[in-house]
Amino acid sequence: MSVAAVLTAAGSGSRLGHSLPKALVPLGGQSLVVHAARNLLAARAAGDDRVRVLVVTAPAFHLAAIERELAPLSDQVALLVVAGGATRQASVAAGLAALVADPRAEGVDVVLVHDAARPLAPPSLVARVVEAVREGHPAVVPGLPVTDTIKRVAPHRGVHVEPVLETVPRAELRAVQTPQGFTRELLLRAHSAGAAHAHDEALAASDDAGLVERLGEPVWVVAGDERAAKITTARDLLIAALPTESAE
Ligand code: CTP
Ligand code: MG
Repeated sequence: MSVAAVLTAAGSGSRLGHSLPKALVPLGGQSLVVHAARNLLAARAAGDDRVRVLVVTAPAFHLAAIERELAPLSDQVALLVVAGGATRQASVAAGLAALVADPRAEGVDVVLVHDAARPLAPPSLVARVVEAVREGHPAVVPGLPVTDTIKRVAPHRGVHVEPVLETVPRAELRAVQTPQGFTRELLLRAHSAGAAHAHDEALAASDDAGLVERLGEPVWVVAGDERAAKITTARDLLIAALPTESAE
């Protein structure tokens, strides 16, 4: 019985507009991928349940650079760096294929999927997700209540004024983060069922729980954490560098 994590870091970070791929961009002296990996490895769920195998998906041209960044962690965890795919879903699938082929993952029964784009997701959040899976929820995502009013619109290509269809009841909405946690069996089944669409940006799932939902299996939400915010733009990176009220 042990936990593995697939850390997605194969994106280019086109919206960040940095010369480096997003995972290698520094934040307070450490790259985003190193922050994310350290926070994953620092998590301790009940019974010293922690991440023992870490698979990182890297941009094909930056495999060696990501390996160098993470090498200092290899005494704490069984580490694997693999080339990602054309979409996030394809990258996770590549990570899972490497995981199941590795003998060090033999006892793994829970798999987390986390984005290097959420480098400051704290260890307490990681532990909360693992514990909810261990308590019998086979697919768990962290989510935060939504503060904006959300309206559904009918978008039309080339039309810049969109008609509103409805206001979605806000109390029912959650903005979902990573890490997401799954039993190994369910995550593998979900990715295998979704494999036909994995390389198509328009059809691929934007998160792993979405693939589980497509199977018709239930997905559960635990409390998210503001610190797990996603870094997409240069402004997000500046905000991530601000001091937080309670550091862990
Ligand atoms: N990701 C990945 N493989 C891809 C695309 C994305 O592993 N083919 C990862 C990213 O590295 C990131 C996470 O998925 O950790 C979420 O993606 P996103 O925030 O969109 O990052 P990028 O794709 O790098 O950014 P952009 O879309 O602006 O290019
Ligand atoms: Mg992207």
